[in-house]
Parts: sequence; C-alpha cells; structure tokens
Amino acid sequence: MYSISSRFASRRLRSTRATFRYTAKTVLIGLSWVPVIAYIANHVVWIGVIDGSSMTPTLNPETNGLAKDVTLLWKLNAKNYSSYKRGEVIVLRNPRDPEGTVVKRIIAFEGEEVRTRFPYPESTVIVPPRHFWVEGDNIHSIDSNTYGPIPIGLVTARVQTIVFPLDRWGSVPTAGGRDPRSAVVGLGYPRYPKSTQQSEP
Ligand SMILES: *[C@@H]1O[C@H](CO)[C@@H](O)[C@H](O)[C@H]1NC(C)=O
Repeated sequence: MYSISSRFASRRLRSTRATFRYTAKTVLIGLSWVPVIAYIANHVVWIGVIDGSSMTPTLNPETNGLAKDVTLLWKLNAKNYSSYKRGEVIVLRNPRDPEGTVVKRIIAFEGEEVRTRFPYPESTVIVPPRHFWVEGDNIHSIDSNTYGPIPIGLVTARVQTIVFPLDRWGSVPTAGGRDPRSAVVGLGYPRYPKSTQQSEP
C-alpha cells in the first residue's frame, strides 16, 4: 500500500518535473527569439496598425474610426534621405509630441519650393537640406502646413503594403492626397545647396 502510493507520488513528481523542464525549455527557446524579433522589428519590418483619419481615403478609408488598416512598416534604409521617392507614405515621430508617431505622404524634397496651405504663415517655403515636406491625404490632416518641413531624423519607416483587411491587400499607392495641386513650385536652389551627405545605413 505504502510503496504503491509512494511510487505514484514519485511518478507524479517526475512528471511534474518533466513538465516544468519542458515548459522552461519552451520558454527559453521562445525567449531566445526575442532579440531576433526585436531586431527585425527595429531594423527590417514590423506591423503597424494605422490610427486616425489623416491618410483617409488611402489608409483607413472607413471614416467611422473603427476599421483600421494593418500595414507593413519597412525600416531598411529609413534614414537614407536619397532613397525616398515622391509620394511615398512614411511614419515619422510627431514633431509636436515625440512620444507619438504620424503617417504622412512625401510631397517635396530639399531645395524644392512648396506652395503651402493654411495655416502655414507663408505662401511658399523652400524645404531645407535633408528635410521633407509631408502632408496627409485627408483635408483635416495636421502636417507640414502646421509644423513645417520635417528632418529625415524624425522618419522611422515606410508604409508600403496594406495586409489587412484582406480585400485591401496590396501596395500603398504613391499618389493621392487632398487635391492634385502642384505643390512644388520649382527648385529653390541655389539658396540652399543640395546636400550630398549620406546618413548611416
Ligand atoms: C541610399 O539610397 C540610394 C538610393 O536608393 C542608394 O543608391 C544608396 O546606396 C543608399 N545609401 C546607403 C548608405 O545605403
């Protein structure tokens, strides 16, 4: 009697230990991926849920604020000024709140003279070296017309692909916007020299 129950007890103990070892191993293997995933998230690609209506109708076309687009945020080359093309949609730190991020479209590059919109205090502005003029597609967007040209240092990623909802799966269009006005008046050179400086990769 005694020996049987003791054997049961020890078997239970063994199986508890085995379960613990198994769990610990699983957790450790899981944890060993954390730096890899963190590296990928910080340097290669991550998933971003678009909040707000600043890029409506290109992103979050439903204006009820409930349906949110899920996108891939590419971070490779994000600090490389010359890798950006006009019309690309980017993620940047909110110039008015460093804790927050915003999603905007690149309208103009360094040295280009831009026709601004309300509430920008001047009717045109020349984008300084290594800055972008960015605007949201939505007329209510708060963008460079409020905070001016933004430096490359604030840019953290490109928004290139919509992955959810599935019926909207695909590349983020590089055209769009409030109205197809020709925002760029011309080149502001030589008032600003074209920068040749490259940032770290
Ligand atoms: C920056 O991007 C340009 C254009 O895509 C590319 O030719 C250049 O090699 C890139 N520079 C670095 C440092 O990656």
